[in-house]
Amino acid sequence: MQAMSIRITSLLLISLAVVSAFSPADHYLIDCGTTEPTVVDLDHRRFTQDVSSSVLSPKKSFALKNSSPDPSSSPIYHTARVFTKPSDYKFKINEKGMHLVRIHFLRFGFKNIGGTCHDQFHVSANGYVLLHNFSAPKGNPTIKDFLIWVDDAELVISFIPADTSSFAIVNAIEVISAPKDLIPDEHVTSDQNDRINIRHAYETMYRVNIGGVKVTPFNDSLWRNWVPDEDFLKSSKSDSKIHFDGRIQYRSGGASREVGPDNMYNSARIVSSLNNSIPNSNMTWVFPVQKDFSYLVRLHFCDIASISLGMIYFNVYLNGNLAYENLDLSTLTTYLLASPFYADFVVDPEKFSDFIRVDIGPSSLSRSHAVDGILNGLEIFKMDNSLGSLDGQLCVDQLEFKNRSNGQTSRLLSLSGAVCLLVIAFLVMRRKTEVKDSFGWSRVPVDVSEIDLKSNYSKV
Ligand SMILES: *[C@@H]1O[C@H](CO)[C@@H](O)[C@H](O)[C@H]1NC(C)=O
Ligand SMILES: *[C@@H]1O[C@H](CO)[C@@H](O)[C@H](O)[C@H]1NC(C)=O
Ligand SMILES: *[C@@H]1O[C@H](CO)[C@@H](O)[C@H](O)[C@H]1NC(C)=O
Ligand SMILES: *[C@@H]1O[C@H](CO)[C@@H](O)[C@H](O)[C@H]1NC(C)=O
Ligand SMILES: *[C@@H]1O[C@H](CO)[C@@H](O)[C@H](O)[C@H]1NC(C)=O
Repeated sequence: MQAMSIRITSLLLISLAVVSAFSPADHYLIDCGTTEPTVVDLDHRRFTQDVSSSVLSPKKSFALKNSSPDPSSSPIYHTARVFTKPSDYKFKINEKGMHLVRIHFLRFGFKNIGGTCHDQFHVSANGYVLLHNFSAPKGNPTIKDFLIWVDDAELVISFIPADTSSFAIVNAIEVISAPKDLIPDEHVTSDQNDRINIRHAYETMYRVNIGGVKVTPFNDSLWRNWVPDEDFLKSSKSDSKIHFDGRIQYRSGGASREVGPDNMYNSARIVSSLNNSIPNSNMTWVFPVQKDFSYLVRLHFCDIASISLGMIYFNVYLNGNLAYENLDLSTLTTYLLASPFYADFVVDPEKFSDFIRVDIGPSSLSRSHAVDGILNGLEIFKMDNSLGSLDGQLCVDQLEFKNRSNGQTSRLLSLSGAVCLLVIAFLVMRRKTEVKDSFGWSRVPVDVSEIDLKSNYSKV
């Protein structure tokens, strides 16, 4: 424990000077299909070739170059690698433990020809199903962001075309050791009986900068994207945003800069007293999610709004259940203003509905003439199910490369696959559609009593 806090302290001292002071044991940035030895992306990161490095073990693959890429897009999306047979990328792991794995997809310039040519594929990593029957959406790049516990000397990321007429396509891969404090060792449930080990795979579903602007990898020491919250906010938007220009007081033992960047903690939305009365309302956000999975919900708080200590008390509700009563930020941050704190909650799948609703509102200890609720950031991670899957009710051994037919037909099909890929390479179309991932959904929550709050873990 002592060693841990020393490590964090020294890390903090360094990171005060430079934004990206975190230095991971494993750090691979791979630009797939490029012929350049290195490619620098828009955030000044150097991605290396996938062929010269020892990471690729291709069975059957093509490098693809977009001849007329969108000039404003990152160069890592200008090339791709395409697999017509199951293939692996292998990363040597220097330090076992949690790793950030980001896989970048952009479907550029290709057409379906007679239905024999489509990108439908599965992706697995060391026994976890990451993506099943996946097709990269057109338009904007899609970044799939995972946290994967690696217990082996190697991380093997496999791309498996769904069948002989399909192919897999990938633009770039990041594999980076996660800081030790990013996910705590275990989550203790509120009844103290159940402990949830962190040795899981997680997929980031939402990473939101509440009340603030988009934070890009350039301003985040773990190169994450944080999006604004407008699309998820269901309560009235008026006057609830605040911004702080001072310095965020990171404490050792509290949330570090790797847990959340300054640019996320320095903005928030608040519930505040009007005139002399405590408002009788909550701030509410709603996030659509898939059923049948558990979710880790991380709420980030930092009191950048109060004038003095000991004034802010509020309640946190998840899907209508009281998840944290009388949250007292002053005590939790050892009496420092503008000091970050986060709370993790694991939401149980069984009776779960297809959204997560977060309410922040006044508690019985809230005071008038004060701030009666705050939220600075929010993350929702999908946790792998009992089969080790993050996508579908199946395990890694059930990911098939289907031999649709045999012998002659199979060869013919794969030939037409190759022709089709050539066509792809030449038929480059520029498409710019405003695809907004899956954020458009806005079902009104009906049954708020349906969620089971399994765990309530707060880190202090
Ligand atoms: C995956 O795709 C294949 C072929 O399109 C389909 O037959 C199968 O049902 C899909 N599986 C799931 C779980 O959606
Ligand atoms: C990084 O953050 C600073 C300060 O908030 C902002 O001015 C700048 O535009 C950001 N840079 C990028 C690339 O997002
Ligand atoms: C606050 O007080 C002012 C002046 O007394 C009044 O005009 C205003 O309507 C009040 N606002 C609310 C929200 O009660
Ligand atoms: C805030 O939301 C919770 C859960 O939906 C609800 O029980 C509570 O009454 C709400 N508080 C106010 C002041 O509306
Ligand atoms: C697929 O078909 C080929 C050709 O008939 C055969 O050699 C191969 O073993 C088959 N693979 C699987 C996984 O069935």
